[in-house]
Amino acid sequence: MFDHAPSAGLRAPRAALAGDAPAIDLNGPWSFRLSPDAHASLDFVNPHYDDSAWDRLPVPSHWPLHGYGSPAYTNVSYPFPIDPPNVPDDNPTGDYRRVFEVPEGWDDAVLRFDGVDSHARVWLNGHELGFTTGSRLAAEFTAGPWLVTGRNVLAVRVHQWSAASYLEDQDMWWLPGIFRDVTLTRSTADLFVRATHDGRLSFEGDGLLSVPALGLTGLEPGVEARLDVTPWSAENPVLYDAVHVGATETVRLRIGFRTVSIENGVLLANGVPLKLRGVNRHEFHPDHGRAVPYETMREDVLLMKRHNVNAVRTSHYPPHPAFLDLCDEYGLWVIDECDLETHGFGQAGWRRNPSDDPAWADAYVERMRRMVERDKNHPSIIMWSLGNESGTGRNLGLMADWVRERDPSRPIHYEGDLTCADTDVYSRMYASVAEVEAIGKGEETPLDDPTLDARRRRMPFVHCEYAHAMGNGPGGLLDYQDLYDAHPRLAGGFIWEWIDHGLRHEKLGYAYGGDYGEPVHDSNFVIDGLVFPDRTPSPGLLDLKVVFAPVRITFPSTGEVSIENRYGFRDLTHLRFEATVEDVTTILEVPAEGGVVKLPATTPTKDETWLTVRAVLTADEPWAPAGHEIAWGQVRLTTPTPAPRSGGSLTGADFSEGTGRLIRLFGIEVEGPRLELWRAPIDNERFGGLDWHWRTMGLHRLTHRVDAVNRDEDRLTVVTRVAPAASDLGLRTTYTWTGVADGVLLEVHVVPEGEWKHPIPRLGVAMSIPAEYDQVTWYGRGPGEAYPDTGLAARVGRWSATVDEFQTPYVFPQENGHRAEVRWATLTDATGRGIRISGNYGLTARRWTTAALEEARHLPDLVPGDRIHLNLDLAHHGIGSASCGPGVLPQYELQARESTLTLHFTHP
Ligand code: GAL
Repeated sequence: MFDHAPSAGLRAPRAALAGDAPAIDLNGPWSFRLSPDAHASLDFVNPHYDDSAWDRLPVPSHWPLHGYGSPAYTNVSYPFPIDPPNVPDDNPTGDYRRVFEVPEGWDDAVLRFDGVDSHARVWLNGHELGFTTGSRLAAEFTAGPWLVTGRNVLAVRVHQWSAASYLEDQDMWWLPGIFRDVTLTRSTADLFVRATHDGRLSFEGDGLLSVPALGLTGLEPGVEARLDVTPWSAENPVLYDAVHVGATETVRLRIGFRTVSIENGVLLANGVPLKLRGVNRHEFHPDHGRAVPYETMREDVLLMKRHNVNAVRTSHYPPHPAFLDLCDEYGLWVIDECDLETHGFGQAGWRRNPSDDPAWADAYVERMRRMVERDKNHPSIIMWSLGNESGTGRNLGLMADWVRERDPSRPIHYEGDLTCADTDVYSRMYASVAEVEAIGKGEETPLDDPTLDARRRRMPFVHCEYAHAMGNGPGGLLDYQDLYDAHPRLAGGFIWEWIDHGLRHEKLGYAYGGDYGEPVHDSNFVIDGLVFPDRTPSPGLLDLKVVFAPVRITFPSTGEVSIENRYGFRDLTHLRFEATVEDVTTILEVPAEGGVVKLPATTPTKDETWLTVRAVLTADEPWAPAGHEIAWGQVRLTTPTPAPRSGGSLTGADFSEGTGRLIRLFGIEVEGPRLELWRAPIDNERFGGLDWHWRTMGLHRLTHRVDAVNRDEDRLTVVTRVAPAASDLGLRTTYTWTGVADGVLLEVHVVPEGEWKHPIPRLGVAMSIPAEYDQVTWYGRGPGEAYPDTGLAARVGRWSATVDEFQTPYVFPQENGHRAEVRWATLTDATGRGIRISGNYGLTARRWTTAALEEARHLPDLVPGDRIHLNLDLAHHGIGSASCGPGVLPQYELQARESTLTLHFTHP
């Protein structure tokens, strides 16, 4: 019943424009009924059909999020047999009806759907208008001739599965329904504005164009005006209000003057090298799926701007048109990606891939046309992307040919073809640091075809996906950024991805693949964003803000700070630079272009002291208030001299006789400390394979054997061997307790035995204390978590948090919350009693064990017990991003090695 034809009865695609022609908003409650297959009676299309027994469903929405069936998640796999263009008989089909009133004289009206997933057949007053596929593309039908004055009835049949589903295999929830706006409009205007950064303006269409602020009135189509303009850039998104007066309507639009070009293999905007500091954004809301409210789109843009993101790839389909207006207005560079992915054919050896089958040619080209025509007037869009992960083939070439002809002003992007035959930029995903460096230097592995190779060597490089932000991470962001900064050919990249697609769930907190009983699913692979499902920034986004900062603050020599301007299109006059030591803040005089500046003189103190320089906005920007921090840097002024520890006795601590185990510390019942190597595996370890090595080594089931206990007046030495069963690997571990004047000192000395071939998760001790000591104050890096290759947002200072606040709520529970370089921490109860632990260590504190954290599948599985479990670590293994991409770089690996952890326990 479904074939390759993408649509029938559609009007020619045109620009999304705000005209003054009247329109009727058809959003709101519609009558709705769901059938399990595609064959229910069509009698509902009759305008006199009685639908009083039907339910009401809001439009826009996805029906599975309103209790009809359920969502399903797969990444690559099609959730049906691969046999194009056929789809299963089980094909949830939603019938929609909407009655609406129309005034007289609407015989020129057009019916517009901004997005229906996946196949919609449309009837107006019983007359079939046609059908549309292309879920994230606008579709317009001529409606006027069948409209009547007064009561009209619209009937729409939406199939979840259609031939088009083979072209929409993006890594996301399968969510059918009319999920974007429906409008009846008398606007039919179309125009294509071309505006370059040097002030050349022309347009295609009819009527006359005026830009009052530029003194331009009545520009005719095809005529080029020369104007004195301030160019548009993401950093300075200047838009000029324009009015287009056509035969039947007046359209208001906002024009941004900007030019994209490629010269000598460098991507330029307005003639200036462009560095994309981007994210991949899916449209997602935890309650509404891809029916994203306008305020949420705006929130995304504001959050991106506030975190120094300057670019978005609309993975992997054109977003709601309003999102692009927001990108124009607030300033984000956009790669607009076509609604196309056929990744699942890869699982069938790419046999019958639609990308190379002429039967699909129309469908491919129509998708491209519908995207480009809709979005062509946005200055924010700097590249067109053919789609994502669709293999290779002639239909991609046809798309590229069409767009080259229609809009030569924007380069073409597509990642799926290494030869770059159809593109203008060289794009890769998840390339290693080594590969990116080779590309940066022009030393990439050559293609077999010398012509294509030579062509590709002249292209700028876009890392269209990197740093997979799944769970804890991504690690190693700076290693990529340093390369993008160093090599002109590297135009930067886009983190995968913006948001965790967790669907709000009554019992599970947030649901992911498998939570709705899907027979084929990809579990929590859909939870891989920089913001949690409710858009709370994760530590990964806070790190990214530092890495992407348009100002770099470093300290080249004593008494000086270097301020580097990394904006492409702006100086630093909108920023104030504040140097703070303890409570004293001085404003620095920084030249507009940056430079090296003297720091205020400070008086040395005996305690450790740091100087922090912050760059903050002097005035409100549309996306952040005055005072908003853009960047910071820190330097240590004074290193403390270790306090002399005069001898004392071991009276503060009680040990068990035979085993030398600590039982009580200052009267508080404690368990441990004892050696710990294990951490609850993070997604990068579970999906990247390291977890498997660690389990095979038995690191999650270490045994502890006491070999000797030696006690004298002020010292207790416990010699142990820590080792997993079924292995000859082990760690000779000696705990030495010494009494000092104000408490007790513990030295844990570790000597690995055997051949340790793999890195280890962590090296430290674990202990627990009663639940009431839940107030943490520490001096070290904070306020958030940090691991060897993450935590760039964590600065040195004195911080406080409760144990509950110490947790990072990753949707899929895993190791988290490690505070790094802690010099001292107190864990106290409401009265201030407790313990203080000094040294130089990493601190983790939680109300459940590592084992419970590891077993949990959703946050509600984590149930507080009557203990607080502490990890005091000498070191951790890095984080990397091996859940999809490279693992931890060698410099962030943790190897088993001889080491000593020193901890000083005192009263707070
Ligand atoms: C890429 C793909 C994305 C996403 C990512 C893994 O291959 O383009 O859509 O699946 O991997 O999260």
